[in-house]
Amino acid sequence: MKKYLVIGNPIEHSLSPLLHNFWIKKHGVNAIYEKKLLEKNDIEKTLNDMRESETEGINVTVPFKKYVIPFLDQLSDTAKKTQSVNTIFKRQNKLIGDNTDVYGFSEAIKLTNLNLKNKKALILGAGGVTPSIILALKNMGILEIVLSNRTKAKAEDLKKSFPFLKVINWGETTKSDLIINATSIGIKEKEEIKLDNSKLDGQLFYDVIYNPSETKFLENAKKLGKKTENGKNMFIYQALKAFEIWHGIRPEINTEVNDLIK
Ligand code: ATR
Repeated sequence: MKKYLVIGNPIEHSLSPLLHNFWIKKHGVNAIYEKKLLEKNDIEKTLNDMRESETEGINVTVPFKKYVIPFLDQLSDTAKKTQSVNTIFKRQNKLIGDNTDVYGFSEAIKLTNLNLKNKKALILGAGGVTPSIILALKNMGILEIVLSNRTKAKAEDLKKSFPFLKVINWGETTKSDLIINATSIGIKEKEEIKLDNSKLDGQLFYDVIYNPSETKFLENAKKLGKKTENGKNMFIYQALKAFEIWHGIRPEINTEVNDLIK
């Protein structure tokens, strides 16, 4: 039986096993998908073991998406551009790092029907998921991306990979069509981004967080009559793409899948 894993720290909250095992069963694939809590020091061994074992694929989550890179043999174009790997697969015992978060985010935005042509986005946060969001928005033809992070140096650092970025101070806002929370603020109940939402006149407020399904960021935007979207579709579509890479099957996204991820 082929084995698949999601690695991260923490990992308890991950819904990837639920979704992948649902599709594995549905499509009669002879495989199992498990989660594994790892420390940084375990990564190299886990990946080296993968070459010789029945483990055919690994999903990587916070905080290891960049850290795994030196232990892989090859990177996809998207993984190279974002320096972020969330999906690993094997080809002739070689480990290939790929990034399906870019696809996941693009699909999620497409589903909102927001046309990005001549639009401006404000991204809050410069953590692990941000490069994927930047690349997705750029590929979809957005006009301008402004980035704001508490630790400004991390936002400035992303300019090396994405020179077109405009960086503003944390707490500052700017007129934008799409406002994205890519920070971890809101995962804990009552946590709130201290921004003057009334100055944000965006059409769409997007939060990468999907649990809770409505963060304070989205709740406040909704009160202002704005369209909101959480990170659920991004999560589902990054998983779909990983499933397709590993098993060559593209699962259907239906109400059953949507009900599974709550
Ligand atoms: P990492 O930064 O290790 O990649 P992450 O979970 O991917 O971790 O990203 C966390 C993001 O949320 C970062 O942008 C972080 O800002 P810093 O770079 O300044 O740490 C942001 N973040 C988390 N808690 C925050 C808070 N209380 N206020 C502002 N930003 C916060």
